[in-house]
Amino acid sequence: MTWRRKDLLGTRELDAAEIRDVLDTADSMKEIAARDIKKVPTLRGKTVVNLFYEASTRTRTSFEIAGKWLSADVINFSASGSSAEKGESFLDTALNIEAMSPDVVVVRHGASGAPALLARHLKCAVVNAGDGAHEHPTQALLDLQTIRQKKGHLEGLSVAIVGDVAHSRVARSNIHAMRTMGMTVTVAGPPTLIPPACQELGVKVSHRLEEAIGHADVIMMLRLQKERMHSGLIPSLREYSRVWGLGLEKLRACRADVLIMHPGPVNRGVEIAPEVADGPYSVILDQVANGVAVRMAVLYLLAGSRPA
Ligand code: CP
Repeated sequence: MTWRRKDLLGTRELDAAEIRDVLDTADSMKEIAARDIKKVPTLRGKTVVNLFYEASTRTRTSFEIAGKWLSADVINFSASGSSAEKGESFLDTALNIEAMSPDVVVVRHGASGAPALLARHLKCAVVNAGDGAHEHPTQALLDLQTIRQKKGHLEGLSVAIVGDVAHSRVARSNIHAMRTMGMTVTVAGPPTLIPPACQELGVKVSHRLEEAIGHADVIMMLRLQKERMHSGLIPSLREYSRVWGLGLEKLRACRADVLIMHPGPVNRGVEIAPEVADGPYSVILDQVANGVAVRMAVLYLLAGSRPA
């Protein structure tokens, strides 16, 4: 085991051994989901606080399930309904939560860098559950775990990440992690949705969907992140879907063993057709299931693998 970190803030900082450490630990946790009684004592007596300032279905639920299956006490905090609505600052809120002695704070926030700010001020472990358009490390780790399960390895695989790359923390975390694991990444989308400095991250850029996906082992479709767009970056949803949406027709030209991934939430009929999202190449719900195992692994490595 190589894990030495207090926090998990991004995949950019992780080396290949650390990523393998999380994935191997997650593999060993996965069988808990198949038990009648889904409970192990690993984090008994530990407290995990989910501090969410943005909406979430998958991440928050899976961190809660992960903590509970490991016997931690899990507390869910939403900014809405809290004293943040009375003007309490993010840092003051976090310092007040810390005064109640949690072992791990899992934070999602609309501002890039918010988890790093907490990591500097809090003595407990901090996990980034998505910060603005910056990083979403546990999503990338569960994506890698899903690919490794399905393909048997990571190195040498070719991945196409398609859509709104500019606003996607999932794309950024996956690019860092996939490059570290020896994978080839092509990002594809309209020029307005691909960051100008993207090539500096070591990826290929394509502005033609068919070119990007034709030989890919894995295709990851992204949602249009309208909540982070400040102006109209696409002509219309119908036009975007026609050119960049993945339907059955475009899928026919792909590899016979291609994996179709999507981090969710899916906008059916926009970036992906329902027949593709629900079809035989899709591993979208495997990603969600692996989210619990990966988050159990992360909580264990941060709070359970060191002496109290
Ligand atoms: N993929 C993901 O982060 O989904 P949620 O926003 O539902 O957590």
